Amino acid sequence: MSSKKKNIITDNNDSIATTYASRFFSESIPKHDIPDKGIGSDVAYQIIHDELNIDGNPSLNLASFVTTWMDPNAEKLIIETMNKNLVDQDEYPQTGVIRERIVNMLARLFNAPGNNQHTGTATVGSSEAIMLGLLAHKWNFRKKMQGLNRDSSKPNIVIGADVHIVWEKFARYFDVEMRIIPMKKGKYILDVDDVKKNIDENTICVGAVLGTTFTGQIDPIEEINEMLENVKKQKGWDIPIHVDGASGGFIVPFLYPDMKWDFRLSHVKSINVSGHKYGLVYPGIGWLIFKDKTELPEDLIFYVNYLGGEEATYTLNFSRGSSMMIVQYYNLLMLGKDGYKRIMENTFKNAVYLLEKIKGIDFLEPVLETIKLPIITASIKKGSGFDVFQLSARLKERGWIVPAYNLPKDAEDVKILRIVIRENFSSDMADILISDIIRLAKELTGKEHKKTTPGNSIHKHIC
Ligand SMILES: Cc1ncc(COP(=O)(O)O)c(C=O)c1O
Repeated sequence: MSSKKKNIITDNNDSIATTYASRFFSESIPKHDIPDKGIGSDVAYQIIHDELNIDGNPSLNLASFVTTWMDPNAEKLIIETMNKNLVDQDEYPQTGVIRERIVNMLARLFNAPGNNQHTGTATVGSSEAIMLGLLAHKWNFRKKMQGLNRDSSKPNIVIGADVHIVWEKFARYFDVEMRIIPMKKGKYILDVDDVKKNIDENTICVGAVLGTTFTGQIDPIEEINEMLENVKKQKGWDIPIHVDGASGGFIVPFLYPDMKWDFRLSHVKSINVSGHKYGLVYPGIGWLIFKDKTELPEDLIFYVNYLGGEEATYTLNFSRGSSMMIVQYYNLLMLGKDGYKRIMENTFKNAVYLLEKIKGIDFLEPVLETIKLPIITASIKKGSGFDVFQLSARLKERGWIVPAYNLPKDAEDVKILRIVIRENFSSDMADILISDIIRLAKELTGKEHKKTTPGNSIHKHIC
């Protein structure tokens, strides 16, 4: 059917009219009640489609780590598989096989020991993966304490204020004491000595972040691991680390393969990563990978047979679509390690390009002089006559979404803008953004602002 014909509907009075000639475009559509009579497919489509145009443009959303572009073949696979329920492994066994392949690919990417079947699960995102990973640590802790005939009723987790909100959610939802180490002005990641002061025999795990939500920095995971090895020797406390690799888990293995943050470290027992961030898949997929099978307590795995054969599940939700999981597999095959590496290199190069340009603007001050992940944070110098919130609001009017916020506890007077560079943000886009920032600052202050030409050395960031 031609698209023209598709847009033609039969109105109530039986005359043929285009969608926009229908009465529904001049009458209010019910917003809170299901209409008694349906409005028909073409009208419903057009009304919803047009209303959603008010949303921001995902490509200009520099607030989000989440993927906003996939190639046409990926989109084809998404449409082909979106009616398959991921949990229904009896009906869709091959979908389950693909999920296990990805768990194995990621476990190997994160240097899990052994070549056997690895242990992990597909989740909706990193939030679900973190909750499930920490739950496994809570269970392991309880079992260990019961085995020693010790009190297991006061579990705690030790984390930095640099963690994502989901860690706090876990603590509250699953009744675990949260020991948050505050940030210090100028230091926005964990301090190993602070971690040491906060752990005890009731610590179910230490949380470390590979790319924090606030500044994109990496917690000192190797140093924390070394400290925990010493604590184990001295006090006998065997405390695992869960690494939150929501964004870094798909970047660091390709940009810094020698950096030790993963299962090569003795205390790292579980890792989450968002497939829908730098795994380059649209929203709805995350991964939890365990170092080995023993880290996932058998009690937490549920076996059900409602859908046919017996199925094992370790998820918070039951039914969910399989498309995003399938296109994760597509990306892994299509790009390979080399493709991911090239995309991460380009993305990082563009981030460095933008950062160096920001350094050349007289009213902007980067929070970090060098970066490891493609995330840029900057504040506005005192006395500039406007703040990050005003600039963010002006940028939004132009279409750019660049969030402004305060850093966490004890550094909350630091107000910053954050720009997340994704694969579809080119250096040309960086130039447009910079000239918009300068133009908007002039509108806010009435003054011309200076821009110097920066050096563009990527080496100082990588070293
Ligand atoms: C470090 C970190 N952890 C966890 C999350 C939550 O991830 P998701 O949105 O995949 O649930 C985010 C999201 O930005 C994050 O940056």
